Amino acid sequence: MSTETTAAPVEEVKIYKGLAGVVVDYTAVSKVNPETNSLLYRGYPVQELAATCSFEEVAYLLWHSELPDAAQLAEFTAAERSQRTLDAPVKRVIDDLPLTAHPMDVVRTAVSVIGALDPTTADSSTSSNLAKSITLLAKLPAIVSYDQRRRRGQDVVEPREDLGYSANFLYMTFGEVPSDVVVDAFDVSMILYAEHSFNASTFTTRVVTSTLSDLYSAVVAGIGALKGPLHGGANEAVMHIFDEIGTADKAEAWLEQALAEKRKIMGFGHRVYKNGDSRVPTMKKALDTLIEEYDAQELLDLYVALDDAMQSRKAIQPNLDYPSGPAYHLIGYDTELFTPLFVASRITGWTAHIMEQLASNALIRPLSVYNGVDERHPAALAERA
Ligand code: ACO
Repeated sequence: MSTETTAAPVEEVKIYKGLAGVVVDYTAVSKVNPETNSLLYRGYPVQELAATCSFEEVAYLLWHSELPDAAQLAEFTAAERSQRTLDAPVKRVIDDLPLTAHPMDVVRTAVSVIGALDPTTADSSTSSNLAKSITLLAKLPAIVSYDQRRRRGQDVVEPREDLGYSANFLYMTFGEVPSDVVVDAFDVSMILYAEHSFNASTFTTRVVTSTLSDLYSAVVAGIGALKGPLHGGANEAVMHIFDEIGTADKAEAWLEQALAEKRKIMGFGHRVYKNGDSRVPTMKKALDTLIEEYDAQELLDLYVALDDAMQSRKAIQPNLDYPSGPAYHLIGYDTELFTPLFVASRITGWTAHIMEQLASNALIRPLSVYNGVDERHPAALAERA
């Protein structure tokens, strides 16, 4: 029997590879404007939110469209603070995962278990999805801290309800509340990572939601999309690059070699921003405070040297992952834990989009042009070569 195949004729259709430039829907959650280098959450410039609000206020804003007043914030934070522990089955599943599992796989699995345990998973009403969003906001720091500590052979630290989100997150991870400088820098990173319109992971959550699947399933899929080094995995990859380079004086030669090998330089470039990521100046300022706090001039020198070399060789600007990677390193997280920190923040944006998608849903199902073999017919098994 001949196995020769012919390619089917390919239609002349414009293909939007990677959906680049394609507008698929409206969103009122955030506005990314590459021309003015601005990012608005529900109309507010993210830099102003980072300067004046806590991450909890920003989470409330993303979900409720308005900033909370004092009473609303008190109610919201009370709900979050009361859910900061992990149920025994979630801890058991994490305990059973090998330390060779990447922390993003641990987070993805833990969220999936929380969804399987929740009797309201199938309830897609806004009130139920808001309640689930607060649950995940409260429990993700517990998951990340639990995993970080088990990797270091340390006991679990129970949450403290008297602490704000970021202070408690760091307390649960490191067993003590760090200085205000550290808590503030961490909080700023959480605000900056919270939301960024139709990025790959958010779009993934919207695709899953468009089938009328549940919020947890959408979030689990979003975590999978965020893990990749072209997206959220880049903050971890930045630190690996820094480790590979070593010191500032080696940055230029390292970059030459990496570009010659056609490597993508992690923490640089963006699909939407071509003249710089609007979030970088704010995160760089936060990183500078950490550099001073931890007396880490050498790390800053390396940061600057690689950026300078990249600008003179490629003129490709850093994205948010470039300053946040070294910031999380200074705060004390293991490199593999950086992207789970991104998850802890982006849960706010993802769930805001899930609720928005449900409010005016249409199944997301694009088309493709077939370019495989031409039509053929199966031979009986004995007749196949
Ligand atoms: N290093 C080296 N070259 C780069 C980089 C980079 N980081 N980014 C873009 N380029 C080059 C490409 O090689 C390409 O060059 P060519 O036209 O000569 O082939 C050109 O710039 C366009 O790049 P694309 O990859 O086509 O741009 P795209 O919009 O698809 O990619 C992306 C954006 C994926 C973010 C890319 O810049 C990249 O891979 N960056 C590194 C990973 C990273 O930092 N991701 C984090 C994104 S932000 C976030 O998730 C918070």
